[in-house]
Amino acid sequence: MEDTQHIPVLFNETIDALSLENGDTIVDGTLGGGGHARAICAHIGSSGTLIGIDRDSSAIIVAEKNLADASCTKHLVNDNVRNLDSILASLGVDRIDSILLDLGWSSIQIAQEGRGLSFMRDEPLLMTLDPNPDEDTLTAREIVNEWAEESIADIIYGYGEERYARRIARAICEKREEEEIDTTGKLVDVISGAVPKSYHHGRIHPATRTFQALRIAVNDELGSAKDAIRKGVEALKPGGRIAIISFHSIEDRMVKHTLKELAEDGMIDLVVKKPIVPSDEEVRENPRARSAKLRIAEKRV
Ligand SMILES: C[S@@+](CC[C@H](N)C(=O)[O-])C[C@H]1O[C@@H](n2cnc3c(N)ncnc32)[C@H](O)[C@@H]1O
Repeated sequence: MEDTQHIPVLFNETIDALSLENGDTIVDGTLGGGGHARAICAHIGSSGTLIGIDRDSSAIIVAEKNLADASCTKHLVNDNVRNLDSILASLGVDRIDSILLDLGWSSIQIAQEGRGLSFMRDEPLLMTLDPNPDEDTLTAREIVNEWAEESIADIIYGYGEERYARRIARAICEKREEEEIDTTGKLVDVISGAVPKSYHHGRIHPATRTFQALRIAVNDELGSAKDAIRKGVEALKPGGRIAIISFHSIEDRMVKHTLKELAEDGMIDLVVKKPIVPSDEEVRENPRARSAKLRIAEKRV
């Protein structure tokens, strides 16, 4: 993974939200290239501890380099943050001061060749957050070629909010009778042929929503994030903060819902009722930030 290009979103807002203090123990559960983590380390100082977690082993390598001169104690862990309880136990950490979850994928990952993430390149149909999936890892190729038409349609509709989900699922199942759909290029062709011509002239590429949906399903992104939020809140000290950045409405809905449940259970108070969104200036400079939303909560004392 290259160590360029990913611009952390809602940067100052997120660092402020975490209420960082010298000596704090902080979890960055979605380390990526370490953009937010560098600032966290600077705020917690040499007596502070950063626990940085990422499912993608190549992200850990980039972050290690970017954090090499950061003076805080660093534990960089290649794991799913949904396993936060066991990760903290293995490090002998009982309670944390704050946790950041910057959900989704980094622009570095999307730009990486060979992962099947982009409909702009013809590649094997993988879409796994693990860059080296083994034969037991669920891939987009397995979903598209082996799952029932109705399940594929449900995924594309539920995780992609794609209005032509049923048509696309039907076209996928017809095509796979002829040949396996094993590349992004073949999938893009099937989607393009299944949707009306007018859809090709819309604001986004006709494959955008289907690719998003498959990526969410392959990596169980919503389930992982939900577990991470619950375990993160459990691990927080009273008064500790959780800050969560989501990238699309489906993710934000899950975050909002999970925080609401935790608030109703008396575990947290919401620090902001409405999510914080990027300024016009940030969106101009980094269009990828346009649908980002930051939600913040505090563990009850
Ligand atoms: C948007 S990027 C984070 C960028 C980071 N905040 C920065 O400033 O560089 C999201 C990262 O989270 C990782 N990720 C997504 N879901 C994860 C999960 N359930 N467990 C661990 N890492 C995850 C991805 O691999 C990706 O590197």
